[in-house]
Parts: sequence; C-alpha cells; structure tokens
Amino acid sequence: MSLRQILLIPDKRLKQKTEMVSSINKNELALIDDMFETMYDAPGIGLAAPQVGILSKIIVMDCAKEEDEKPDPIAMINPEIIWTSEEMRTYEEGCLSIPDFFADVTRPEKIKVRYLDEKSKLIEREADGLLATCIQHEIDHLEGKLFIDYISRLKRERITKKFQKLARLERA
Ligand code: NI
Repeated sequence: MSLRQILLIPDKRLKQKTEMVSSINKNELALIDDMFETMYDAPGIGLAAPQVGILSKIIVMDCAKEEDEKPDPIAMINPEIIWTSEEMRTYEEGCLSIPDFFADVTRPEKIKVRYLDEKSKLIEREADGLLATCIQHEIDHLEGKLFIDYISRLKRERITKKFQKLARLERA
C-alpha cells in the first residue's frame, strides 16, 4: 500500500468524466487499498479516483466518524444512484481537493445505490444521513462535479481564485 497525492482544484482532472471499470483485477484492488490509506491519512471520510489522478469509476468511504464507532470502509466500483428520496437534507460538506473550505449543500436525504464491490459482486443498498451525502458527493466526482458547483457563483469564484493563486505560488 502507498499514499497517493491528492489533487487540488484547479487541477483539470477533477473536472473530467471517468471511465467505467471493465474488470476488477490486481491494479484496481491495489488502487482501492491506496485510496483507503490516502483517505484515512488525510484524514477524510471519502475519496474518488479522480482525486488521485485516475479517471475510473471508483470511490471509497468510511463515514464512521465518531470515536466509538467501528471503522466502516466501503469501496464502490461503477456506482450508480438508482433512486433518491424527495426529502432533502442539508449538510456542511468539505472535500480533500479543496482543503479548509466548507459549505452547506442540499441533497436527497435517502438514496439507493447500485455498484460492484471488490469481489465484483453486484450490490444494491439504501443509504441515508451522512452516508447518503457522502455517496452522492463522491459519485459527483466521477462526473467531474465538485460540491462547490452547488454554491453561489460568487462564493465559488472566490474559493477558486484562492486555489489558483496557491497553485501559482507552488509553481513559482
Ligand atoms: Ni470531494
């Protein structure tokens, strides 16, 4: 296992669409291991493959946030939301690709998701609460969509400019 570098905005790879995974073999499993390690190290509760520069439909999550909760690592390959509730939920989201920035995002409170697990087994499950928010946030990454795409243009431009400036400083 090894840590991968997490891309930050405005890296163009974060805005690209991803490819379906056609088979789950050694490379994919190694990537998933690395993604978990990178996510826990950050630390964060979710990570999508484009955030480590891989344009494949793979996400990992662990929404067991409280200290007394058991770890709950979940990897999803080719995830697809097949149902959403009408009830919505607002949660203050953040993203490892936009460090130290948080904003309220409103999304469906409950969802049903279909995906392949690491053993290529087709799974369908319902999720609500934080896990539902997290799954939707991570699946958005696979479409090149970030949580700042849900906030006001003014706020989005302000945060984007800040990170453009940081990227320029880093190159200088
Ligand atoms: Ni994110």
